[in-house]
This record gives sequence, C-alpha cells and structure tokens, in this order.
Amino acid sequence: MDQHAMDRYIKSMIKEAGHRIRNSFLSDISVDTKAHANDLVTNVDKEVEKFFIRHIREDFPGHRVFGEEGYGDTIEELSGIVWMLDPIDGTMNFVHQRRNFAISLGIYEDGVGKMGYIYDVVNDDLYYAVAGGGAYYNDERLQPLIETDISESIIGMNAMWATPNRHVEHEATIRLVHEARGMRSYGSAALELAYLASGRIDAYISMRLSPWDIAGGLVMANEVGAVASNFSGQPANLLKSDTFVAANPSIHGKLLEDYIKPKHI
Ligand code: IPD
Ligand code: CA
Ligand code: CA
Ligand code: CA
Repeated sequence: MDQHAMDRYIKSMIKEAGHRIRNSFLSDISVDTKAHANDLVTNVDKEVEKFFIRHIREDFPGHRVFGEEGYGDTIEELSGIVWMLDPIDGTMNFVHQRRNFAISLGIYEDGVGKMGYIYDVVNDDLYYAVAGGGAYYNDERLQPLIETDISESIIGMNAMWATPNRHVEHEATIRLVHEARGMRSYGSAALELAYLASGRIDAYISMRLSPWDIAGGLVMANEVGAVASNFSGQPANLLKSDTFVAANPSIHGKLLEDYIKPKHI
C-alpha cells in the first residue's frame, strides 16, 4: 500500500473508531483502575485498541503494534514498521467530562516518525501529518511556528508541578507560572501536542509520558518546527516512559535551562 492509500485507510479506521467511542456514550461504560486510584481505564479503551489491532494485523501482517492497553506486541526496539497507539488519550476526561480526549496514532519506520494522527473524537477534529508533507488540522495546513518569548507564551502543564513534589524544584516552576503569559492543563498529552502544532499553546511539559502518548504528536510537531526532548535534552523516548518537553523552537532551550529543574537527573 503506498503512503496515500495508507493515509486514507488510517483516516477511515480512525473515524470508525471515533464513531464507536461516541456510541459508547449511549450505554454503560465500565471503569477500572490500573496503577493507582486516579489511573482509569474503561472497556471502551480496551475495545478500541482491539479494533485497531484486528485491522492492522489483517491488512499489515508484517507490522507491529505498541498499544497502551497491551493487546499489541512487546516492543523493545523499533526496527521495521511500528504503529504506536493510544486508543483513548485522556481517559480521565473521557470518563468525567465526555470530551477533551483523543485517539492518538503514530507510525514509525526503523524509529523514524512517518505519519501522525490525533483525533479529537467529540469535536470530530482530525490533526495529522505525514513526514515531509506538512501537518494539517482537518483540511487546513498548519503553518511553521513563529518566534515567541516566554513572556508571550501559553504553556501546557499540570498545576501539580508548581506545588512541592519529588520530580522538579517547584520554585522554578512557580517562576514559570509568573513569567509566562498563561498556563493551561487540558489532560490529554496528544491534544496538547496537537495544540502546540497548531500554535494554540507554545509548549507542553510533562514529568512522565509513554511512547503512545507522544508518538503521533511528535510527527506533527516536527512538521511545524517544534522541538521535543526529555528534561536532559535527549530525544523524546519512544521505548519507555520519560520526562517530556515539546515547545516552539525559540523557547525550548530557555525552558530547559531556566525553568525546568529536575531533582533526580
Ligand atoms: C494520560 C494523558 C494525561 C497525561 C498522562 C497520560 P491516558 O494518558 O495524556 O494528559 O498527563 O500522563 O498517561 O492514560 O489518559 O491515555
Ligand atoms: Ca491510561
Ligand atoms: Ca495516554
Ligand atoms: Ca490511553
């Protein structure tokens, strides 16, 4: 299948999955917890992951899938083609708000991002990118990010990191809260990356994200010139959970140098 056909295939699969998620609102959703009481998962997260995997296995037998709910493959290296899937990114929002969550999908070849899709299911908004072919918000091409400064930036970050915590020096984070134009916390890493690529926010910072949270968004971020790394400035981790900062290229360095002060790295 060539890239155009694959793009059409993926879009139609994502739209179908979105339809299923919207329909799930009509019946009871069963909510479980995973690592702790606020780490939620539902039958819908699992069913949507299985839906994608069924199609991928049938139509792309040589490809591997790295999915959050564990129905895909065990991925320890990124050779060949790997689909990185988060069936619902923002499960807490899905359960409590019934909005502000997304399907996130990134397609990587030998570790290089080729295609990225983030689907805001309730608003029927699709953000996507093909490496070298630009990033799009529905049919609108997203423009390269323009230079900005911390004082004119809107930063996506959980408010927790401006309170005493074991990950970062919260005094530096508080300084960021004061010196940035505004802070936002949307509760879906994938949507926050889509907003960064669309220029609606200028940076997104997280203490711990997994490969499927960022895989789709990274392809999009790249296409508009955003820069992403972990807190040590190394490339974003596509195999394990890690710290993460993606930002407009004119503030990424400043965020790392002046405002994000990790305690253990
Ligand atoms: C979560 C969301 C959230 C982020 C968490 C992720 P999930 O994904 O992206 O915004 O802060 O770290 O785990 O579990 O809802 O797919
Ligand atoms: Ca989860
Ligand atoms: Ca996620
Ligand atoms: Ca998820």
